[in-house]
Amino acid sequence: MFDGRISNAPHVHRGRAVLDARGMLRNCVEVFERYRARLGPTFTVHFGGLIPAVVTADPVVAKHVLRGNQDNYEKSFIQAERMVEFQGAGVVNIHGEAWKRQRKLLAQGFKPNYLAKLLPMQQDVFEELMLDFDRVAQHGPVNVRQQMVQFTLRLTGKALYGRSMPTAELERIGAIIHEIQNFVHRQIVQPWMIPWYRFSGESEKYQALRREGDAIALRHIRARLSEGLAENDFLRILTETPYHDTGLPMDEPMAMLESLQLLVAGNVTSTNALTWILYLLARHPKYIHEIRDEVAAVIGANAMDYRNLHQLEGTVRVIDEALRLYPPFWMIDRIALKDDEVGGIRIPAGAMVIPYIYGTHRNPAHWQNVEAFDPGRFEARRSKERHPFAYLPFGGGPRTCLGANMAIMQMLMIVVAFVRKYDFALTTDEPVGINPSMMLRPNRVVSMKFRAIA
Ligand code: HEM
Repeated sequence: MFDGRISNAPHVHRGRAVLDARGMLRNCVEVFERYRARLGPTFTVHFGGLIPAVVTADPVVAKHVLRGNQDNYEKSFIQAERMVEFQGAGVVNIHGEAWKRQRKLLAQGFKPNYLAKLLPMQQDVFEELMLDFDRVAQHGPVNVRQQMVQFTLRLTGKALYGRSMPTAELERIGAIIHEIQNFVHRQIVQPWMIPWYRFSGESEKYQALRREGDAIALRHIRARLSEGLAENDFLRILTETPYHDTGLPMDEPMAMLESLQLLVAGNVTSTNALTWILYLLARHPKYIHEIRDEVAAVIGANAMDYRNLHQLEGTVRVIDEALRLYPPFWMIDRIALKDDEVGGIRIPAGAMVIPYIYGTHRNPAHWQNVEAFDPGRFEARRSKERHPFAYLPFGGGPRTCLGANMAIMQMLMIVVAFVRKYDFALTTDEPVGINPSMMLRPNRVVSMKFRAIA
């Protein structure tokens, strides 16, 4: 049809979507929120004015796409082409049997008993990080996101490579990830520019960045292998664990690729999550005190371990609520392989389907007072009453986040260490807005003052 209708769901006229394409590049969530307010939780739109998409903030539709009829939905071209171009084909962006095989092997490194052993191995890096942070904090206001990049990269780097990576290298990897993600985002929202990026040599510039990142990872893998692996080393899973079918382990290029995919998946997400958590705590200091009291009661003067961290139920609720308000992955993207239907909405083969996490977390049919920071929503009784797909910070179904347990462990470690040691406050009262590209980032520097408590 002329207006570009692709389904019976409420529709954004194609001309409107073309006019909104620049706005989508600047702040896609703002545009989607306008559409959602006008059209309801599920609507169709031409993404960037070009790509037909069904966008849904309805948990029923998300559950169908991510779990109920998951075989009909593959990760979209964003993952399968744009991300593969820069990250290679690994667990994050492959499909079918190849994905199952890869996920089964890697999942061994994310089981709770494995993570429980990992935590004490990370203690030395964690102490270094806290000392470095203390030096920065004593000099005045801190750029929180910049510091969280250090924490997540060094902790995940240590988890993956079993070594403390030099700060300069980690900063370089962080910058490479950031630049490549911005470039991929530009290609998604302005798909008509892709041929120009190739022709003008811009794509090649980012390929060179990718090669630089690969070389750093490879150097660490080789160094670690020559030093000898520890029993609980994640690299052992990457380089020695045999696949169930062939009985052979991954080869070196695949181990490098997967380790980098994990580093990227774990860094950008947790960095943004932690920045938003600390921001929200600073805006709601009552919870700093509540967490401090809970930590004193549960952990006391003992060292953190996997078990006592997970007994901090109030702290976990604060993290849950921060991930509801500011989910780092604000959307998930899939492509429908065949025509499908859910809740009376037709989804044509070839359409992109977007479980829109940010909107789902604010869907008034499932959440009350949606903009309020209220960790109490995650009390067990209230959570049980909610649709399981109304809360999706780690996605859902078989492709749910592989690193969720590790992410929660790292976030708990950092929040606990910070509230034990500091009182903190924002340097300005002005609220921070969102800047959604591939991830939901703050739209300006989150600047905070940290004062060590007596
Ligand atoms: C707060 C932190 C994190 C958040 C919010 C998050 C969120 C997500 C989401 C929403 C997905 C699903 C994407 C989709 O279905 O298309 C995902 C997938 C994934 N995440 Fe995370 N993630 C986080 C941390 C981590 C960490 C620390 C790691 C590993 C070190 C990790 C590794 C992965 C991998 C490998 C996948 C792909 C799984 C697959 O396709 O089978 N994530 N993550």
